[in-house]
Amino acid sequence: MKLRTKFNLVLVTACIIGLGAASFLSYRAAQENALHEIENEIAIIRGNALAVRHYTSTGITPLLADDNDILFIPHSVPSFSAQTVFARFQESFSDYSYKEAALNPTNPDDLANDWEAALIDQLRADQSLDRVVSIRETDSGRSYVVAFPFKITNEGCLRCHSDPDIAPAAMLDLYGPENGFGWQLGETIGAQIISAPMTLADKRALDLVIVILAAIVVAFAVVIILVNIMLSRIVLKPVTVMSQISEQVSMGDFSADEYVKKGKDEISSLSESFNRMRRSLNSAMKLLDD
Ligand code: HEC
Repeated sequence: MKLRTKFNLVLVTACIIGLGAASFLSYRAAQENALHEIENEIAIIRGNALAVRHYTSTGITPLLADDNDILFIPHSVPSFSAQTVFARFQESFSDYSYKEAALNPTNPDDLANDWEAALIDQLRADQSLDRVVSIRETDSGRSYVVAFPFKITNEGCLRCHSDPDIAPAAMLDLYGPENGFGWQLGETIGAQIISAPMTLADKRALDLVIVILAAIVVAFAVVIILVNIMLSRIVLKPVTVMSQISEQVSMGDFSADEYVKKGKDEISSLSESFNRMRRSLNSAMKLLDD
């Protein structure tokens, strides 16, 4: 195998190994990054929903408290306002979703579907969990879902969610006595289920990996080209010339010019020694001829 082939083989193998390692590591790092981004988006959505809930319970509920006995106004319910505000937000960000899902909800729209109920069951089974994460395939691509438990820690909630007999009559007129009752203090009755699309983050992670790989390919291409040029100039050309001359000399033909490679590297000193050897050989031959 020729010297150049050997060098190129080693360089190309190193390039392939480098690319493999870089793509694996960079894809993993980029995906982790993308996940952090999605988690951050979900934290912002949740933070906003909690702020709307807080504003409703501290700002709106007291204002409407008196009217609620006569005509129940859902706008005074934190869950209603958080989900109504989100529905408006979703008009611009349709890939995101927020639901206050319950196993036995007051508003049937909040009834957990099968996969939501499964997440809620996990939270009910292990009370120490503060969230459950799941990745779901949807029509518009993969979706990252986080469920945060809704635990009844405040006795005030029980007025409307434990026994229809003590619930405001106006509320029963609107929602009926069937659903959303029987909740217990300390019970996880449902979950805030927030989902964010993964497609964009996945694409960004892939784009980043492609840029990193392209940069590595360019770097290796430059190295391979430079090594080939240097190999050719410093080693291959001089060695080929010297080997041709030595071929001639070995046949007793001393007519070729001496080859002198300028410089101080090993090939230059080889060319000098070669020329010296050739001269000595020439004189020895002449001596023999005489
Ligand atoms: C004045 C009555 C009232 C009180 C007090 C009340 N809720 Fe509700 N809650 C409702 C009504 C009515 C709904 C349905 C709102 C709607 O139409 O979306 C609801 C809905 C919910 C939902 C969404 C699931 C469902 O049942 O539709 C959750 C979760 C919830 N409430 C939790 C709580 C918690 C926690 C507390 C105590 C901090 C509380 N509620 C206090 C009346 C009340």
